[in-house]
Amino acid sequence: MRMSRGSAVNVMRFNIITIFPDLFDRVFDFGMIQQARKKNLLEIEVVDLRDFTDDRRRTVDDRPYGGGDGMVLKPEPIFRAVESIEARSAERQHVVLLTPQGEIFNQSVANALSLRPIVTLICGRYEGVDQRVADHLVDQEISIGDYVLSGGEYAALVVVDAVSRLIPGVVAKGGSVLEDSFMDGILDYPHYTRPPEFRGWKVPDVLLSGDHAEISRWRAEQALEFTRKRRPDLMKK
Ligand code: 6GU
Repeated sequence: MRMSRGSAVNVMRFNIITIFPDLFDRVFDFGMIQQARKKNLLEIEVVDLRDFTDDRRRTVDDRPYGGGDGMVLKPEPIFRAVESIEARSAERQHVVLLTPQGEIFNQSVANALSLRPIVTLICGRYEGVDQRVADHLVDQEISIGDYVLSGGEYAALVVVDAVSRLIPGVVAKGGSVLEDSFMDGILDYPHYTRPPEFRGWKVPDVLLSGDHAEISRWRAEQALEFTRKRRPDLMKK
């Protein structure tokens, strides 16, 4: 059951369909994601695509019609895997195909996904996935950037991390998620901790001043300056 924001529990579930389930063995056992799972705010199930094949060799791919290099992921196991998840879910899953052909993942795509109770991520192979999967099974295609990965597995990790930290209660500190860089579309300001002087490099005086209004002003200024210099493309928005 998913309650409205602010009240009771707001559990989110990811299903990850992959031909490399072992790759995920320990990645979710650290840091924020581990904590979120322990608090039952987040559930992750890794599904082996080969469990949904029907031949002795557990074949998931085949040669492309029309010729060409590489192998293409067959549609049947992927449809069966998604349908088996659907059959045992109370709520509708949002089905995402991770592919370089997808829309570019960014903070607003992450924000939108964080509102879905069940997100199923299908890890594509870069050579290709039968187009009928994208056309008739998938709700959304996502790419994590303009470069080629051998498969969608690392993209799935990126999506799970970025989305999980948006689930209410996962990141504890009040306001910290909303104050993040990229939540307002600009880069973060520089951070410092002790010691006040390290190898001759000093922490900016303003941060030691105790003047909170002045500190806020300085941080805003620095964030804008960083953004202007490093990511002028973000300034336009
Ligand atoms: Cl989601 N998959 C692959 N294979 N390559 C990518 C990608 C995804 N996103 C960026 N490059």
